[in-house]
Amino acid sequence: MLEIMPRRCLREVTPYAPGKSIASVQRELGLRRVIKLASNENPLGPSPKAMAVYRRAEKSCSLYPEGSSPELRQAIARFHKLAPERVLVGNGSDELIRLLCEAFLDPEDEGVASQYGFIRFRQQVLMMGARVIEVPVVDWTHDLATMARACSSRAKLLFVANPNNPTGTYNTEEETRALLAAVPRQTLVILDEAYVQYARGCPGYPDSIPALIDEFDNLIVLRTFSKAYGLAGLRAGYAVGNPEVLGWLDRIRMPFNVSLPAQRACVAALEDRRFVEKSVALAVKGRESLAAGLRELGFAVEESATNFLFARAPLPGRELFRALLRLGVIIRPLDEYLLPSHVRVTVGSPEQNKALLSALRRVLSGKGAVPA
Ligand SMILES: Cc1ncc(COP(=O)(O)O)c(C=O)c1O
Repeated sequence: MLEIMPRRCLREVTPYAPGKSIASVQRELGLRRVIKLASNENPLGPSPKAMAVYRRAEKSCSLYPEGSSPELRQAIARFHKLAPERVLVGNGSDELIRLLCEAFLDPEDEGVASQYGFIRFRQQVLMMGARVIEVPVVDWTHDLATMARACSSRAKLLFVANPNNPTGTYNTEEETRALLAAVPRQTLVILDEAYVQYARGCPGYPDSIPALIDEFDNLIVLRTFSKAYGLAGLRAGYAVGNPEVLGWLDRIRMPFNVSLPAQRACVAALEDRRFVEKSVALAVKGRESLAAGLRELGFAVEESATNFLFARAPLPGRELFRALLRLGVIIRPLDEYLLPSHVRVTVGSPEQNKALLSALRRVLSGKGAVPA
């Protein structure tokens, strides 16, 4: 028996369960054609312009990148018309969530999160040995007023994914402003906008950069290159907000946290606005038709402000996940969120959505769909 023990708090953390990869399903089930609709990636792939730049960076792969990603930082600052000091680049927004917790949470502190908010918030707070204060959702949506009231003098961080993963719901600018105005002075609000591009058309969706960050210095906004930009494999995201806060994260990040090809490709991806527009249009159109198809099959589908759908399934989520896997379609069961009847499916290309619906028809005709 190993007597070397990890920190006590780590024993309470259930590890993050990433979406199953195409390669693992091919290996395990001997399938050739596998569709992944489990991690909200972009069905168009990456921007061809970003990939051209990525390939040109290969000659520099023997050199360490510049650690602070200065060109990318400048490009993001230009994109948002901000000073570069208000931007920090991370190895995915996931790294930035981790850095925020490492920089600000002592074990006696608290992190406030929503009941079905993105699970990485909860996991990362627990990894610091700090306490998670979890606030119930209302209609699958974060209850920001109650979250503000849940902040004690020990609440250092408050996390809001807007729109949220896995529920796909969003909070309005009015609610967000009220939250920012109501939290105590020592509480930093983290607005994780991984799906911002898909939510822009939703009534009342906040204008966080620059409007909210100019107004509130207790706000950090997170963005990612993994979704609408189609670069999940490169691992890049960024934080925008108070330079003093970002300075602490900068101090403790890994020295070379974003690879050079990733830095360069992200600059090109930011400039390729057409590609992002095309990606968003595909998802917005697809989410309506996919939702209609799922409803016909007995799913209770929530409205989505993202590139995925959250639904109560006519079979237990894990059972459905396993049955679809055998047909070469990967979706996401939500047991880790304690939602065993729900699933999350990424809106894919029209062909992928069609393949999902037809696989579902096969699975459900064998079992008989239970009305929602
Ligand atoms: C709400 C939310 N935040 C952050 C992330 C992490 O994104 P990244 O790939 O930038 O680490 C995800 C990924 O699924 C997400 O859904």
